[in-house]
Amino acid sequence: MVGRRDSLAECDPDRSTGRTEAFPYPASMGTRGIPGHGAPGVGPRSRPGSRPAGVITRGTTNQNRLRRVDRWLTGVHGRLLRGAADPLVVDVGYGASPVTTVELLRRLRTVRADIRVIGFEIDPERVAAAAPHAGPRLSFARGGFEVPLPAGEAATAIRAFNVLRQYDEDAVPAAWARMCARLAPDGVLVEGTCDELGRRAVWLGIGADARPRTVTFAARLAGLERPSDLAERLPKALIHRNVPGERVHAFLTAFDRAWDLHAPLAAFGARQRWIACARTLARDWPVRDGLSRWRQGELSLAWDAVAPPAVGRVGR
Ligand SMILES: C[S@@+](CC[C@H](N)C(=O)[O-])C[C@H]1O[C@@H](n2cnc3c(N)ncnc32)[C@H](O)[C@@H]1O
Repeated sequence: MVGRRDSLAECDPDRSTGRTEAFPYPASMGTRGIPGHGAPGVGPRSRPGSRPAGVITRGTTNQNRLRRVDRWLTGVHGRLLRGAADPLVVDVGYGASPVTTVELLRRLRTVRADIRVIGFEIDPERVAAAAPHAGPRLSFARGGFEVPLPAGEAATAIRAFNVLRQYDEDAVPAAWARMCARLAPDGVLVEGTCDELGRRAVWLGIGADARPRTVTFAARLAGLERPSDLAERLPKALIHRNVPGERVHAFLTAFDRAWDLHAPLAAFGARQRWIACARTLARDWPVRDGLSRWRQGELSLAWDAVAPPAVGRVGR
């Protein structure tokens, strides 16, 4: 596990210094123009022996950091995992320590005991460091957005967390397409960002056609001042869009307005206030799921409601 001190120093992709600087390709340049990585930014088609698609970035991670997204995966996509003939879940970019991948398997096993997890990391040193943690249903290998599964294997779900935030915005659709090409037809890619301790997170649920279906906002409600505090954890496809005139900005503004409206409920706890916000927002926004998710400090929305024009809209 990476220590708390390290994580606080390095975790925010936009403010930290870290390993990336020692690397030949700074995170800010994305992957365009990198030898062996063609346009639009995530590399060539997968060939045996070819370089993984992507670049090594900061490896910051933390124990329990991804609990919220794992809870969503096992809850909202529990039926998908239970129904798969041979469920395989992939973690892309697990970081300097495989702790969140080990936790992912542990959580998934509560849904399906025979589930397998493969962690791919583009940094060979991090692959070597993870090897001692491998087990009968958990393995680690070098790989990038091409997700080099054995021939004939498809992933039921792929989790790529705190990976794309360190790339250029225009590299995002191609990265989604490369990962989604390795999904089973009904599979899901979960791509998102969170803070160093996993208290605030925003992620997208993306279908095998590489089109997002949902965006989920999740927070530890104690200590949340305003829902728009989640803006700094928006995934790469949205982080630059939180400006007036863009849908995601309109949504976060409406969320704050609902939060203010329900301020009196704060006396009953932040959870009641969040649930009331979800109900209010559902009148004008395509809010998904329901009370059982809202109670956990989650709120999912159809992607169309916030999609920037360039990324396209398809609904759910
Ligand atoms: C900030 S860490 C995230 C670790 C963990 N997923 C988490 O959320 O705590 C990002 C990791 O993704 C890796 N990475 C970046 N691009 C990648 C790619 N295209 N394929 C696989 N790993 C990648 C980096 O090397 C780094 O170790």
